Amino acid sequence: MSAIQISDSVNWVGVKDPGLVYFDITMKTEFGTTYNSYIVKGSDKTVLIDTVKKEFKDEFIANVEQVTSWDKIDYLLVNHTEPDHSGAIGDVLDRNPNIEILCSAAALPFVKNVVNRDEIKITGVKDKHEIDLGDKKMICRLMPYMHWPDTMMEYLDSDKILFSNDGFAAHYSFDSIWTDAVDSKVDIDYEVFYYFSMIMRPFTGYIRRNMAKLDDHEINIVAPSHGPLHRKEPRKYLDSYAEWSKDKAEGRKLVTIFYASNYGNTASIADQLALTLNENGFETAKVNVGLKLDESFRDMIEQSTAVVVGTPTFNGDAVKPVWDFVNLFSTVYSIGKKAAVFGSYGWGGEGAKMVAERLSGLKMKVFEEQYRARLVPSEDEKTELREFGKRLAEYIG
Ligand code: FEO
Repeated sequence: MSAIQISDSVNWVGVKDPGLVYFDITMKTEFGTTYNSYIVKGSDKTVLIDTVKKEFKDEFIANVEQVTSWDKIDYLLVNHTEPDHSGAIGDVLDRNPNIEILCSAAALPFVKNVVNRDEIKITGVKDKHEIDLGDKKMICRLMPYMHWPDTMMEYLDSDKILFSNDGFAAHYSFDSIWTDAVDSKVDIDYEVFYYFSMIMRPFTGYIRRNMAKLDDHEINIVAPSHGPLHRKEPRKYLDSYAEWSKDKAEGRKLVTIFYASNYGNTASIADQLALTLNENGFETAKVNVGLKLDESFRDMIEQSTAVVVGTPTFNGDAVKPVWDFVNLFSTVYSIGKKAAVFGSYGWGGEGAKMVAERLSGLKMKVFEEQYRARLVPSEDEKTELREFGKRLAEYIG
């Protein structure tokens, strides 16, 4: 695939990877992907934006050379150092070691660890840093955790193009590079959502804070780092991100109790705990995660003011369906979400403590007590459970 002109001053010099089956190991990519890179030419300076995955470096280099010579490139903007975009930085510097790398301050150590060489010209920029190209300028916008701490975007004022890196992207490879040229049988807007759900969703708290920066700019084209560029209704994609990133728990007092139960004892604790939380002003929902791991659990976590996890202990461990469920917390924005753990057990009862430690490791705010009952909860244990429930209600607030 050759370089493609996208405006008077901008060329796409990326590569296509239609055969990719999985991205980041876990994300199925039915339509492959692209690794988008761009060259922006001003009257005085020329900028290369991002590189590509290492195995595609030869095609990338050929595309760059169709547009300019290496000695004419002044800056390499590294918007994000994940290897699908940083894989060919060393190959760029091999051809012109005088290129100055511009990146966020957070990216500085990452870039150094990518190129592993001492003599590089590199500058960490601040938000709103302006790159003067002569007859036009680019404005850097730092977008931390969208989706890495290093993430940066740029706005090209003359052409009103937002180079958005992984933001508003889709894993989609086809002959064209424009969203409006995608086959009508393909729901490309769903592919943008699927990308958001798999890549961006754990960072919605950060995305909420970052999105307002883009209100400063009138945007005609959104040029992401994967998939097609959005020139028809470009704002629609920004608005969708704002909507998908909303705090779904805001204004609610919902506690969702996720549990697994074999003989019904953990389930009976869940029932009693829900009643106590109801009596203390909370709406509750109970979900048996032992039946099926469902995509909707991610929505429920996001919609909950707090979550409670209940697990039996088998063989000195929490049970697998509970661990599978707990793994969902890192797929949504759960940092700082309040949580508590309870469980039923026969002789050891370690499972609840292990789950509580895991949730703390995920930076959730975990209630320091875990309620545990041996086998069938006794009347004393039920009384204790009601007291636990009241203290938990106070903790959630
Ligand atoms: Fe496309 Fe986060 O790399």
